[in-house]
Amino acid sequence: MLIAGNWKMFKGPDETREFCARLRARLHNLEGVDVIVCPSFPSLHDAVGMLATTEMAVFAQNTHWAKEGPYTGEVSPWMLKEMGVGGTLVAHSERRQLFGETDESAALRIEGALDAGLHVIACVGETEEEREAGETESVVRRQVDAIRTVVEDENLDRLAIAYEPVWAIGTGRTATPDQAEEVHELIKRHLDVPVLYGGSVKPENAEELLGQPDVDGALVGGASLEVESFAAICEAASRS
Ligand code: PGA
Repeated sequence: MLIAGNWKMFKGPDETREFCARLRARLHNLEGVDVIVCPSFPSLHDAVGMLATTEMAVFAQNTHWAKEGPYTGEVSPWMLKEMGVGGTLVAHSERRQLFGETDESAALRIEGALDAGLHVIACVGETEEEREAGETESVVRRQVDAIRTVVEDENLDRLAIAYEPVWAIGTGRTATPDQAEEVHELIKRHLDVPVLYGGSVKPENAEELLGQPDVDGALVGGASLEVESFAAICEAASRS
């Protein structure tokens, strides 16, 4: 099981240090779960330092694809690797919806991050309109195919997919366990890597979602911002 907390644009370095100290104490004897936190760029260094002596990993929320170059405002995956960051999210739906991320740019980022030696959690998921139009399967397949084309077989062990239905993110509306399982099963038929569910995962619904056969973990937004709720989800994962 893998539980990743996506902090989005919350928690600067001070709050990050405090959170990591409490999380470390809270989860020190948790077994059977890989725990990841994904802070904003300015907080990565503190998170890496605070969690260095633990099994927990720190991932970025995004990355450029190039090693270096004239790309003002961008961050290279090689720089992330150098600072001890273990991996990165790519193509979160907020990147797709608000910042022009496409299947093509997502593929470049995934390729660059894997080349740099990072792990990748690549996000896919349909919008509400797409689900209502019966397009969930074709949209998710298209997104997964775009990812598949750039990942060499030897790098597959550093890739996970997060299925995050856009209508369930930050809305309090969660996919039912059956809805999640159906799409996870579809993704795994195309690409045999761990598939995390994301979208309003909370301590109250984690156990049921994580109990589905093809749900290998969760990407948690809102509920990852408090130590108690994030730790409770990690504990639910260790029981699943
Ligand atoms: P949420 O966010 O858990 O707040 O719905 C999930 C995500 O955006 O990764």
